[in-house]
Amino acid sequence: MERFAGKVVLITGAASGIGRATAERLAAEGATLSLTDVAAEGLEETARTCRDAGSEVLAQVGDVSDEASVAEVVASTVEQFGRLDVLVNVAGILQFKDLRQTTLDDWNRIIGVNLTGTFLMCREALDHLLASGGNIVNTASTAALAGHPWTVSYSASKGGVFALTQTLAVEFGKQGIRCNSVAPGSVLTPIQQAFELPEGADPKLVYRIMALDKQRGPETVASTIAFLASDDASHVNGTCVKVDGGTLA
Ligand SMILES: NC(=O)c1ccc[n+]([C@@H]2O[C@H](COP(=O)([O-])OP(=O)(O)OC[C@H]3O[C@@H](n4cnc5c(N)ncnc54)[C@H](O)[C@@H]3O)[C@@H](O)[C@H]2O)c1
Repeated sequence: MERFAGKVVLITGAASGIGRATAERLAAEGATLSLTDVAAEGLEETARTCRDAGSEVLAQVGDVSDEASVAEVVASTVEQFGRLDVLVNVAGILQFKDLRQTTLDDWNRIIGVNLTGTFLMCREALDHLLASGGNIVNTASTAALAGHPWTVSYSASKGGVFALTQTLAVEFGKQGIRCNSVAPGSVLTPIQQAFELPEGADPKLVYRIMALDKQRGPETVASTIAFLASDDASHVNGTCVKVDGGTLA
């Protein structure tokens, strides 16, 4: 399947987990890739795998929460490849904390990467996507769709991503841009190392969301992102697709 032949796709958070799996999936489907992440080593590893699969790849270390860095990443992409067809916002951070222990710094850091980072990337990429008739896929979370304890900053950030996605879908849909999101449940990636519950927390409240039969790998989210980003989803706009095995059904 070569759904992305001739398409330029920019993926944030590409050094690890869902971002890496998405890069590999789209490389296998013929995409030209612009990959970015704060983690240089992992980023280079993803770039190498994708090049080995036959993709042309630009890999740039960048911070999605930094306005200047975002501008640089998008500008270099268009400079190198001449266009941008798809933006996939995957970069994100997670923290489990009781509300009372959540500092303003924790809140600002998580909102800054997950929500502000998505906003900055969308804003910077918009004109290029309008020019190509492209689309955006953002990464929300089931944490935004139902009560998810001890993640006040994270859940709020992902609720923001969910709302931002619907807003852009309506604001720019008539101009030919689609904007959708995925809401993974619990997926086996390094972000789960943050899964350390605060003292006294009832794990049952978290596990009711966590496991249906067994946890799956990031390729399950990557294949959903690939569908939403492809022309197969040409009539799908403003949707959030849960990838959680039906846990919250
Ligand atoms: N794994 C899950 O269970 C799960 C569930 C729901 C949602 N998600 C979301 O999926 C996305 C990917 O998570 P993952 O599970 O692959 O985790 P991960 O930790 O493997 O990957 C996240 C990537 O984002 C990068 N990143 C962090 N801050 C950044 C910044 N400021 N700028 C650029 N890159 C940055 C990290 O370096 C890392 O490579 C996140 O948005 C996460 O919230 C994950």
